[in-house]
Formats: sequence, C-alpha cells, structure tokens
Amino acid sequence: MTDLLYVNGGTPLSGEITVRGAKNFVSKAMVASLLGDGPSLLRNVPQIRDVGVVTGLLELHGVQVVRDDHAGTLHLDPSNVESAHVADIDAHAGSSRIPILFCGPLLHRLGEAFIPDLGGCRIGDRPINYHLDILRQFGAVVEKREQGIHIRAPFGLQGTKIALPYPSVGATEQLLLTAVRAEGITELSNAAIEPEIMDLINVLQKMGSIISVDTDRVIRIEGVERLRGFTHTALADRIEAASWASAALATQGDIYVRGASQPEMTAFLNTFRKVGGEFDVDDDGIRFYHPGGDLNPIVLETDVHPGFMTDWQQPLVVALTQAKGLSIVHETVYENRFGFTEALVGMGATIQVYKECLGGRPCRFGQRNFFHSAVISGPTPLAAAEIEVPDLRGGFSHLIAALAAKGTSTVKGIGLIDRGYEHFTDKLTALGAEFSRT
Ligand code: EPU
Repeated sequence: MTDLLYVNGGTPLSGEITVRGAKNFVSKAMVASLLGDGPSLLRNVPQIRDVGVVTGLLELHGVQVVRDDHAGTLHLDPSNVESAHVADIDAHAGSSRIPILFCGPLLHRLGEAFIPDLGGCRIGDRPINYHLDILRQFGAVVEKREQGIHIRAPFGLQGTKIALPYPSVGATEQLLLTAVRAEGITELSNAAIEPEIMDLINVLQKMGSIISVDTDRVIRIEGVERLRGFTHTALADRIEAASWASAALATQGDIYVRGASQPEMTAFLNTFRKVGGEFDVDDDGIRFYHPGGDLNPIVLETDVHPGFMTDWQQPLVVALTQAKGLSIVHETVYENRFGFTEALVGMGATIQVYKECLGGRPCRFGQRNFFHSAVISGPTPLAAAEIEVPDLRGGFSHLIAALAAKGTSTVKGIGLIDRGYEHFTDKLTALGAEFSRT
C-alpha cells in the first residue's frame, strides 16, 4: 500500500464511527507501567502507530507487551526491565516525542536513561528545556551527547518545588512520572491540567501514588517507595472526536461519534454551536451535524485546558472556510501551526496569516516573527488539488478539505495520519466517502 489517497469529494459525510482511547493519554499510561512492580492492563487502546512506537521502546527495555487488537487491550509486564542498547533506542529517533517521558521511570528503575533525538509533528520548535530542567531539579545529571541525551541519577531522585514558565502538557507528565517515586514531597505550580493528565493521575493513584491537584494549577505529590501495576480504561480521544465533528460541518454532513465524551469537550462544543453546527449528546457518544443554512464566522483563541485545544484548531479552520464572513483564529500554544493553511488557499480558501496577536490578548509569540494568527474569509468553494500532508492534525485537515472539495484530490503522505487516527480509511468508508488508497 502506498502513501497516497485519491479523494473524490463533495459528498456529505454521514453515518457512525467509533473513537477509542486518547492517543495523548494511552502512550503516557504505557510509560507509567514501567514504574510498577507487577503487570498492568490497559483497555480501550486504539490501533495507531504511536502505540506501536511506544510498544517498541518498552520492549527494548525488557517490558513484555501483549496486545489484543480485537479487545483493544494491552498487557504490560515490567518485571524484567533492563537497559537498552543506545543504537536500538536511536533506531526509534525521529518517530515520536514519547521517549523523553521514559526518563523518570528509567532513572528509578535503572539509575540511567538515554533519549534519542525526538520526532513528532513539525508545528514549532518544540524544545525540551522544561523537561531537562525538571530532571535536573530532582537531582539528575543531564549530559548531551552526539546521538542524544544521557541522564543519570547517581544519588537517587529527591522531591522538589518547581514552577513551570508555561503549563506544558509534556513537562507536567514528566514531573508526575518522576515525582511519584522520588524521595519526599514535590510541588508543581503552573501545571497543565488537561483531561489526559487527570487520567494519568488516575492511573498513578491506582498504582499507589499520593497526588493532589489544588486550585490554581498546583499539583502536589508525596513520593512512595514502591508502586504496583494498574488496570485502567483509557479516556476517549477528544481530538479525534472533534476532528470528525469538523469533518461533518465542512462537508455538510451528519456523523455520530460513538465513544465521544462531553465533559472533556465543553470548549469545543460551545464553539461548534457558535459556528452553527448542531450536536446531540447521549450516553454512548455525540451526534455532530450541519443543520443547513449558513455557518457563522467566529473569533477564536486556542489555549491550554480548559480553553479551546490547539489540536482542535486545524480541522475547525477547514469548516470556517465555509462560514459566511470573517473569522479570526489566534494560536497561542504553538508558534507555527498555520503552515497547513497554504494548501487550503491553493484549494480556493481565502486565509491570511499574521505575526500579530489578533482577536485576543497578547500571547508569548506576539512580538516575534511567528505567523500565529489567521483571518479566514468565507464561504469559499474548495477545489480539488494535489496535497502533501504536513503533520498529523494539519494532514487530517487537508483530508477534510479534500472531502469537501468537488473533484478528485490526491493526498500524499497519509501514513502520517495513521499515527493518531485509528483505521481512518475504514471510517471514511463507513461515512460514505468516495476514495481509493493505492
Ligand atoms: N514547551 C517548551 N519547552 C518544553 C516543553 C514545551 O517551550 O520543554 C512549549 C512548546 O514548544 C509549546 C508549549 O510549550 O509551545 C506547549 O507544549 P506542550 O509541552 O504542552 O506539548 P507536548 O506535551 O509536546 C502534547 C501533545 C500535543 C498537544 C500538546 C498541547 C502528546 C504526545 N502531544 O504535546 O499533541 O498539541 O500537548 O495540548 O501528548 C497531537 O496530538 O497532534 C499533538 C501535537
């Protein structure tokens, strides 16, 4: 199978699909299993490439991983954790950002860790300075080498008091995975409190950790000597759910997303309604649909939780090209997340990007050279085109644009979409899309 998709667009997507566990939680829970004395069982695991990458890394470190794709479960047995060969770890370089989160657990288990150069989506610089500062504050020695970063904890890891410059999801997870078995108490202020982080805290608590989340983004952890395995069902993937919701809006369709969960999607649902989309929530999922008539332009700013997620932005922008009037979107989480709009403009959309902070309060990227605000003027019919997938969410947005556009589009590099969207071509078929993957 090649990396190409021919999409014959212009047909409303209609039908039912299912979303399973969140990519951005499942991978972290898999890493948490390294901290336990005994085996763990994770349920609601999607078949996506990122799960395969973390499985490979865990296996390199001696964790036995048994996957039942039909049941959607992973059995993770860390009884024989061992150091991996640098060259083997390095073979995973470029495939994911998860290796950085192995540090805390490996330092506790083995006293050292090696982190290859990191991959992940090209949506900004994506530095790891917060992660390394956190590890140093726990007492780790960080040494940059040619192939990556070598980290040691010659005197163990001690609890500490840390304030993050920005509520980073990954840095908060780094701290949690390190603090739970560090000696003494750790306090993190300005922590990220995304639902995926709360579910990681649920997992760590099941394992025997003592973690409290206070008001004002303060997390306190009392380190314990030993942790056990866990059994846990992953929370639903709210990014995937919102991506399909935006696809319903952009194609004038009607999609029931089984597994979608309302409490984690409040900000998205409010925005979806303001744009003119309709949704019905029931016990098993959410139906998202275009009720007919014009869509409305909006002013939107992405933010950390409980704000509007940055990962919801790209798919929604495609729907905004079909709204009547001027929409303004200010991206405040990543400095470079509008690259995907170039292809949309090539398909007929009217989108202008700006370096200024538009439509909201000034953000970290304001006085710098980043095109992090966009003005979208609609409605504009989209025309079929040849598109190259730039990153995971941008790529899904291109796919939505191709599905909305009349004619046959060629979408290249769709392997990237497999990283985070389970069986997306099967889902497209279930929704009546016309396409072929050759
Ligand atoms: N940042 C730093 N230094 C650091 C870490 C982060 O400056 O050491 C900055 C980043 O450059 C960015 C901001 O802080 O501007 C926020 O980054 P964060 O650390 O919160 O992001 P992340 O943990 O790397 C996760 C998800 C992303 C999602 C963000 C925000 C995973 C594997 N990735 O990334 O998901 O956009 O949180 O919610 O959990 C995706 O799924 O497509 C994706 C990119």
